[in-house]
Amino acid sequence: MTSSGLGVRTNDLKEEVIVDPTTGEKSVKVGDINFPARKVWMKTFGCQMNYHDSERILSHLKDLNFTHTEDLNNADLVLFNTCAIRDLSNNKFYSQLGEIKHAKKKKNSLVVGVGGCVAQTEGKELVKKYEHLDFAFGTDVIDTINDMVYRVYAGDNKFTINSWDRSENFSIETKINHGTPQAFVNIIKGCNKYCSYCIVPYTRGKERSRLKSEVVDDVRKLVEYQGVQEVTLLGQNVNSYGKENNESLAELITDLDQINGLELIRYTTSHPYDVSDELIQVHGESKKLSKHLHLPVQSGSNTVLERMLREYTMEHYLGLLDKLRKAQPEIVLSTDIIVGFVNETQEEFEATLDLLDKAQFDSIYSYAYSMRNKTRASKMVDHLSDEVRGERLRHLQKYQLGIQEKIRQGLVGQEFRVLVDGTSNMGGVKKWKGRTNCNRVVHFLPTNEEQNLLWNWVDVRVISATALSCQGELLHTLGRKLQ
Ligand code: SAH
Ligand code: SF4
Ligand code: F3S
Repeated sequence: MTSSGLGVRTNDLKEEVIVDPTTGEKSVKVGDINFPARKVWMKTFGCQMNYHDSERILSHLKDLNFTHTEDLNNADLVLFNTCAIRDLSNNKFYSQLGEIKHAKKKKNSLVVGVGGCVAQTEGKELVKKYEHLDFAFGTDVIDTINDMVYRVYAGDNKFTINSWDRSENFSIETKINHGTPQAFVNIIKGCNKYCSYCIVPYTRGKERSRLKSEVVDDVRKLVEYQGVQEVTLLGQNVNSYGKENNESLAELITDLDQINGLELIRYTTSHPYDVSDELIQVHGESKKLSKHLHLPVQSGSNTVLERMLREYTMEHYLGLLDKLRKAQPEIVLSTDIIVGFVNETQEEFEATLDLLDKAQFDSIYSYAYSMRNKTRASKMVDHLSDEVRGERLRHLQKYQLGIQEKIRQGLVGQEFRVLVDGTSNMGGVKKWKGRTNCNRVVHFLPTNEEQNLLWNWVDVRVISATALSCQGELLHTLGRKLQ
């Protein structure tokens, strides 16, 4: 057995590529099994961590001769990467898994697998319940996906692998397929916080960080060999990064700052408890760190924060925002809010509205509380109705839009540099779009219709803005590289 960092390989069979001399077709031989060219269709739910894992899975599957397809009808292998954070994400997955039964009826050879956060905690039950499901795999074994797929094609299905990787270090190399200048780099996995409402510690396990030297080396290679210019450092709680190795996120960013050709560093997601003074200072000093921070607060009420086991008070949180704004006057802040936590009173809810006024967030993600099995909150007796939760959520979202509208209107006339990442259809008009350093999306028209601006750096000036979108005009095109 060999350790691959994220998981343990169960077999050591080597892949051997065979090219048919007459047809030129490539197949891959593993042990006694021949893998002809096949297609994998994959549906991903949840956070950026899951999207990152899916990319990793697709990258591994290439070695077994699978290519990615967007068309379910062409698929030989169907994979779901699932999210368990709220009922809504769970339900979407269950209905799609149900539908796949019909696809399997039409094509008997179709192989179906489920991975991710739902599979981590409920994999065994899923495989038992859904006859058309061949295998399930947890969040810590994704690097062994080829062993699992091999096993199914070898005739052994209906299994679940959801063990935790017990190796001492979290050690991986980033795998990207997309050939774009933006890459996600996983630096820490798991979460030790156990907020009372949250399932993540149960689906992602204990916190473990990669060594700083490994991440820096990884990013340097991405920049040098794959043309990456923007990295997003990923983890459920990136602020805890490096604790067990006596390293820190602040030190990591300082080192990454030195990499020539790297233009922009982002990180997500943060917990307020672990935002150190050292990190705040880096927000002021780093040349490459994004002038945006997503800092989930969850509630504006100290009594709710206590029930949520968030380990900070409102005053502490607002103090952090103050310090961040002093260190980096251009910083743009966003947050996550849970409305209607167990027994939230009207007064407690209003404290959150009050917080929105005080914090002046540029944007928020807001959710109605959803009870998750296993969590501490699931053991509290809850008297709040879903109806009240829904009403409060709508009220809060409307309230924030008012605040956001004013902030965004202040952007008119300002100039931003953006990396163009695609097009958008704005009322029948095709526009290019990109994200500013401070994480706002700006849409703009090209100078002429033939112009292909994808992955170019451009300077734009904001000409109009609403609470939810910014329209700009193109000032300069700087090309695909800034240096
Ligand atoms: N690690 C991140 C959050 C991951 S989950 C952090 O600590 O900030 C993303 C967001 O989902 C959370 O910030 C929270 O706002 C929301 N969330 C988590 N559990 C939830 C639940 N049970 N019900 C509703 N929203 C939830
Ligand atoms: Fe969940 Fe809290 Fe961990 Fe975030 S910090 S993943 S909300 S337990
Ligand atoms: Fe969902 Fe798992 Fe991410 S529960 S939010 S996919 S860590």
